[in-house]
Amino acid sequence: MNKNSLLSMRDLSAEEIMTILNDALLFDEKYQDWQLPCRKALVANLFYESSTRTHYSFESAELQLGCKVADIAVSQSSVTKGETLYDTVKTLEAVGYDAVVIRHPQDAYYKELENVNIPILNGGDGAGDHPTQCLLDLLTMYKEFGTLKGLNVVICGDILHSRVASSNKEALEKLGSTVRFAGPKEWQREGFPVVDLDEVISEVDVVMMLRIQRERGAALTDMKDDESYLEKYGLSKARYAKLKDSAIVMHPAPVNRGVEIDTDLVEAEKSRIFPQMSNGVLVRKAVIKRAFGFESFE
Ligand code: NCD
Repeated sequence: MNKNSLLSMRDLSAEEIMTILNDALLFDEKYQDWQLPCRKALVANLFYESSTRTHYSFESAELQLGCKVADIAVSQSSVTKGETLYDTVKTLEAVGYDAVVIRHPQDAYYKELENVNIPILNGGDGAGDHPTQCLLDLLTMYKEFGTLKGLNVVICGDILHSRVASSNKEALEKLGSTVRFAGPKEWQREGFPVVDLDEVISEVDVVMMLRIQRERGAALTDMKDDESYLEKYGLSKARYAKLKDSAIVMHPAPVNRGVEIDTDLVEAEKSRIFPQMSNGVLVRKAVIKRAFGFESFE
């Protein structure tokens, strides 16, 4: 495995996380036009699951950095002839790609890719990890609060099927913040501390709502309709009104409007849902710079 790969937040120390975030800030504030100083920088995007934000913000980051980008259409590739993930990625390496971004429905799919030599950037593995989503979440909090130490974060909803929940728990705890989880009890994970959203809503710095992952089999037995989910577990207007002045609302999106969050709150004053997406391009630029082995901007 290439050491500049990014597979899971588990693999990054607190210091490495801060280096990526500081690079992302420099891309925002100083080096907007910086490009990779390589003769060729061919990046393949290989998405086996639907994606809008992760896919196209990786592509935006790649194009801004001067990469040449191939979007691999899985449905038109030899994957449909039964080719394995390993053989597909080894093929991309053999034909000259320098890095590959992968999203795949299988948890820890990258374990099969030990013998791949080009950097692999994980765009989400099943219900496992989503490191670049976590980094953009961290950047959003860092820009807001100027620190990632001592923050009080609550993550709500479908924790069980979410790769965003586990990556954020891992990273925020490593950086010295408190993360707790709320939502239906059948969607909690072992070892993840549970709270009642209504008991903590007025004291948290960040409330992060998660989408119900119906494609991963999430189903609730006690819910008759979407409004009752919003009422019981979601970010309703009544809960929003109880937030501290300085608190922010986050959601990795796509949002089920009127289910996890009241539709009028998606762009409310405290919502950072769209800024999260812009921050996603910045952290992905930093992660690609790292994948190509460039430590400084000089
Ligand atoms: C998340 C994902 O794909 O895990 N979305 C994203 O990358 N922006 C969360 C989700 O799909 O609910």
